[in-house]
Amino acid sequence: MIRKKLIAGNWKMNKTSADAVQLAQDLVTEIGKVVDIDIVICPPFTSLESVGKAIDGSTVKLGAQNMHHEASGAFTGEISAPMLRAFFATHVILGHSERRQYFAETDAAVNKKVIAALKNQLRPILCVGETLAEREAGSTLKVVQTQLEAGLEGVSKDLATSVVIAYEPVWAIGTGKVATTEQAQEVHAFIRTLLTKLFGEQVAQKVRILYGGSMKPANAPELLAQKDIDGGLIGGASLETRSFVDLVKAAV
Ligand code: G3H
Repeated sequence: MIRKKLIAGNWKMNKTSADAVQLAQDLVTEIGKVVDIDIVICPPFTSLESVGKAIDGSTVKLGAQNMHHEASGAFTGEISAPMLRAFFATHVILGHSERRQYFAETDAAVNKKVIAALKNQLRPILCVGETLAEREAGSTLKVVQTQLEAGLEGVSKDLATSVVIAYEPVWAIGTGKVATTEQAQEVHAFIRTLLTKLFGEQVAQKVRILYGGSMKPANAPELLAQKDIDGGLIGGASLETRSFVDLVKAAV
């Protein structure tokens, strides 16, 4: 089964709208016609509309970094799936470790968002991953299993292929400490086994599993060559045209 690779840039809380549009335009010039892999950029909410316009007509897709599970209502400061769809977003990052760590997002909350995203034809990029303490305690697979199973609870077999999983070891995010290819492949293969148990072999073979955590042009080729690594969720290296373009080229 050949899965189309996916490179997603998570810009986190970086760039004003003007800076975001500039980066988006530069990316369109360099990689806006790539069709061999999927490319998604996820700017802050404040730049979704302007970046959406900047990438219109290119093959680069738009994603958000979070959303609320309700469609509307008295939830000050929140953004809903229909609002993201109105900006033509196709993807949404959910359950990122920074959301779990700094905003106390639980597995149950992440699950509600996953269900709401799918209901609104948005592809969730569901993030899972262990902390350093959890890895050192030998509980990596258990942590990943809990987050994955809870995050996907109630997702039907039909919709499961729309989900993207991102394995992001928390200790590798923004630290420059990338997981070894063996460490990453081991967890990715484990995730695929869990997906097989949940949805069957055919579906599990179609689900993309991204690696995230200090992925750079220099380490990407080796990571992307692994059997179960289907792309990357890129933080720091997605903020600059050259490095993101090089990451895309490494995946093509
Ligand atoms: O969402 C992206 C990840 O948190 C990875 O961030 O590439 O800066 O380590 P990083």
